[in-house]
Amino acid sequence: MSFHSWRNLGRSGKDRFLCLEGSYHGETVGAMAVTDVALFKDAYAPLIRSATPLPAPDARKAQDGETAIDVARKAAAALEQYLGEHHEKIAALIVEPLIQCAAGMVMYDAEYLRLARAICDRHEVHLICDEIAVGCGRTGTFFAHEQAGIRPDFLCLSKGISGGYLPLSIVLSTDQVFAAFYDDAIARAFLHSHSYTGNALACRAALATLDIFREDHVLEKNRETAKWLAEGLTGFAEQPKVRHVRQCGMIAAFDVESDDPHFTRRFYREALSREVLLRPIGNTVYFMPPYVITRQECEFMMQRSGEALRAALQ
Ligand SMILES: Cc1ncc(COP(=O)(O)O)c(C=O)c1O
Repeated sequence: MSFHSWRNLGRSGKDRFLCLEGSYHGETVGAMAVTDVALFKDAYAPLIRSATPLPAPDARKAQDGETAIDVARKAAAALEQYLGEHHEKIAALIVEPLIQCAAGMVMYDAEYLRLARAICDRHEVHLICDEIAVGCGRTGTFFAHEQAGIRPDFLCLSKGISGGYLPLSIVLSTDQVFAAFYDDAIARAFLHSHSYTGNALACRAALATLDIFREDHVLEKNRETAKWLAEGLTGFAEQPKVRHVRQCGMIAAFDVESDDPHFTRRFYREALSREVLLRPIGNTVYFMPPYVITRQECEFMMQRSGEALRAALQ
């Protein structure tokens, strides 16, 4: 849609996309092109016109007294430099705001989004926020990008938008992009759709989900739940093999230093035998609980996970 809107504006040279290192945006051919995870795309490499991955603002890169904001500024400088040279060919930059989940809950400072927004504006490049994983209250605000005080040109939502009850995905855009397609000429129209596009039942489930967000004060409750997660995390921070303990709203994670190639599997089994279903990504352990988790369940999850970690490291 980004490419086509530029094309309608007479800018068909803008046919390339930018993503961040470690990005994950899904597994269709187009989505794999902006995904930087070899495991998902290697087999399909001949079919894919890969995007250029730029340095990610991963807060773990901070060295020698640097802060997450410094790392974000460095990554933004790399974006600025790249676009300075190539903006004529670039339709859009796609990002997962605040947390690159599939890369291993890689968290970064909102400063990157603020700067990326300004840089993209300067170079006439769309900013696409893929909030499929981090949208709908997961990070503390309804949309993660709100924490940077910006708006994207495109916003992708799914998962939480229907509370997980029915499958729905949405792409929102701006009036400016809409106007680029609004024409009597059919070739200028955005014709792409899917069999179940605009499914009425799924849309109704999404509307009901939004009602629940409002009526049950889900965002406020999540802030409370996030505090329980934070309390549970302190126990992990004290463990000698645990690194980079981090949290953003309803996602908590840490990395485990272990040479054991079977650590992930071992930890998964230890946790399962203690009635906790975890799915570490490599050596990154994370908690992304459903919003309805109770304090008691949260304490149970964190305590049993701690026991499982100690067992897995023995
Ligand atoms: C950030 C992000 N984008 C895209 C996707 C893929 O979404 P879908 O399976 O609906 O294509 C995911 C799935 O986990 C995701 O985390």
